[in-house]
Amino acid sequence: MPDVIVSCVNIHKSFLMGREAVQALRGIDLDVLRGEMVCLMGPSGSGKTTLLNIIGGLEEPSRGHVIVDGENVVALSEDALSEMRLTKMGFVFQNYNLLANFTAWENVEVPLALAGVGRRERRRKVEYLLDLVGLGDRAQHYPSELSGGQQQRVAIARALANDPPILIGDEITGDLDSETGFEVMEVVARLNREQGTTVIYVTHDPRMAKFAERVIQLRDGKILEST
Ligand SMILES: Nc1ncnc2c1ncn2[C@@H]1O[C@H](COP(=O)(O)OP(=O)(O)O)[C@@H](O)[C@H]1O
Ligand SMILES: [Mg+2]
Repeated sequence: MPDVIVSCVNIHKSFLMGREAVQALRGIDLDVLRGEMVCLMGPSGSGKTTLLNIIGGLEEPSRGHVIVDGENVVALSEDALSEMRLTKMGFVFQNYNLLANFTAWENVEVPLALAGVGRRERRRKVEYLLDLVGLGDRAQHYPSELSGGQQQRVAIARALANDPPILIGDEITGDLDSETGFEVMEVVARLNREQGTTVIYVTHDPRMAKFAERVIQLRDGKILEST
């Protein structure tokens, strides 16, 4: 039996815009295997972000359901959802979303503190994670003192703080030049290879899609093809 870690079953999502319903997703069926690296592509407005948000429990589908690591995301209480987002999934966004008044070190430490990890273990873990993304020597820098690629690598370290089995990335190289984008994707691909982290990411850039084992094309809220 293949080990399915994320299963989307007949996902529909519509948003109300005034009196009109926008159909963002129209029947998505998708299984992602544990340890896979999957890329979602498609034109702007095709539903990529909506699908990631539903997988992450940030948004509810209008129809259908999502199973993440054995749990029915739609049925979870708010508390159980927060717990799931803290421990099962790491999110990385296009604009890094780091806390501006916190150092790199502190940004990575936040999710560990939220998960109740003690001080010594936090210190060990933050050091390990910043080294992992090649930023051991930038720990005391604030986001404004880091380049875009460095900030994104801090965001990746933060997303990985509680060893989530799944890393979700929405256009994480979108604000980076292509060389820096490559460096960031190489960090993600190495995590996938060496730690077995399942990666689901969105990109517009065919060169960044090459890091994936499987590319899924969305059009108008449906899967057009999967290769
Ligand atoms: N919160 C929202 N309210 C209304 N419409 C939305 C909302 N979020 C997304 N949409 C619409 O759903 C469609 C898919 O959006 P999105 O998932 O952001 O696409 P993508 O990430 O592929 O660019 C678009 O038509 C978008 O305008
Ligand atoms: Mg998007």
